[in-house]
Amino acid sequence: THSLRLGVAGLGTVGASVVRMIARRADALFAATGREIRITAVSSRDRNRDRGLDLSGIQWFDDPVALARSGAVDCVVELIGGSEGPAKATVEAALASGKHVVTANKALLAHHGAALAKAAEAAGVALAFEASVAGGIPVVKALREGLPGNAVSRVYGILNGTCNYILSRMEREGLTFEACLKDAQALGYAEADPTFDVEGFDTAHKLAILTSLAFGTVVDAEGVSVEGISRVQPLDLRMADELGYRIKLLGVAQATAAGIEQRVHPTMVPKSSAIAQVMGVTNAVTVDADAVGELTLIGPGAGGEATASAVVADIADVAANMAAGRVRPTFGRPSAALRPAERVE
Ligand code: HSE
Repeated sequence: THSLRLGVAGLGTVGASVVRMIARRADALFAATGREIRITAVSSRDRNRDRGLDLSGIQWFDDPVALARSGAVDCVVELIGGSEGPAKATVEAALASGKHVVTANKALLAHHGAALAKAAEAAGVALAFEASVAGGIPVVKALREGLPGNAVSRVYGILNGTCNYILSRMEREGLTFEACLKDAQALGYAEADPTFDVEGFDTAHKLAILTSLAFGTVVDAEGVSVEGISRVQPLDLRMADELGYRIKLLGVAQATAAGIEQRVHPTMVPKSSAIAQVMGVTNAVTVDADAVGELTLIGPGAGGEATASAVVADIADVAANMAAGRVRPTFGRPSAALRPAERVE
C-alpha cells in the first residue's frame, strides 16, 4: 500500500508542531492506520525564517495553491487561517484536484462549510476539521461518532481561550479587561485581530460547527446572535461572585420549537457547575443528550502542541479510512432547521 503524502500549508506555531509530531509519532501512526504518513510538501510565507524544523527532502512551495495542486500530495493540511484569501483558495484547489483536506480553520468552515462539504463530496475526498473547534479536545469526534444513539437537546461551551483567560484574571485579580487582553495577546492565544476573540466571533464560528454536528443543521455562522465580553466590568464579576455565580462567555445551541437557536454571550453560571470550574485558556463543551445525559469535555483550546494533536488525529483518520477504501462524510445529511438569529440592539 502506498503512503499518505501530506502537503502542509502554513508553518506557524501549529504547523511546526504538526511537522514535529508526524516525525515523532511515525511508528505509532503506522500501527494505528496501516499507512505510512509522510510530509512531502510544505508552504509558508517566509522561506528563510528558521523554524528549527528539519525540512530536508520536503518540497517547498511559496504558493499554497500550487502545493494544493501538486501531484506529490494526497492530503492538504491547511493551517493558514482566515475565512477568505489564500486559505480558502488553497482548500478549494485541493478539493477540486481530488485531495483530502485537514484544516484547523474555524472561520473558513463557519462561513463556507456547506459549500466546501459539497465540493468534498463531489470529489469523493475527506474534509476534516477536528482542530477547528476547542483545540485539543476531540469534540468533533465525540459529537459525530460518539452519540449516534442520542437525540441532543443542547450543546454549549467555553470555546475561546482568550476570553476565558481574560474573565478568569479579571475575576481573580480584579484587573481591567484591557490589561488582561494585553497579557493574552503576549501569550499568543489571541487571534491576529483580537476583536474576533473578545467580541465573540471566534466563539460563534466554533459554535456554528458544533451546532451542525450536534443537530444536523447546515453550518451557518450568520445565524448566531453574538455579544462579546468587551463591556464586562470587574464590578460585574464581583456581583456575580456574591450571588454564587461566575461569568463565562458561552456559545449555546439548543433545540426550540422554532428551530435550533445559536447564541454567544456572557453568561452567569453557578459556581457549582462543571463549566464554572474551567479557568484560564482552557475550553469546555457540555452536551445534553437523552440517553447519556450531561457530558462535559474539558481541555486546552489553543496552543501549538494541543491543536496539532487534533490535526494529527484527522490525518490518522484520513489515513485509516484511505487504507479501508472509504471516505468519511463531512457533516452528514442536514436534518434540522436553524432558528433565524435575533437582532441584538
Ligand atoms: N484565539 C483562539 C482562542 C485560538 O483564544 O481560543 C484558538 O482557536
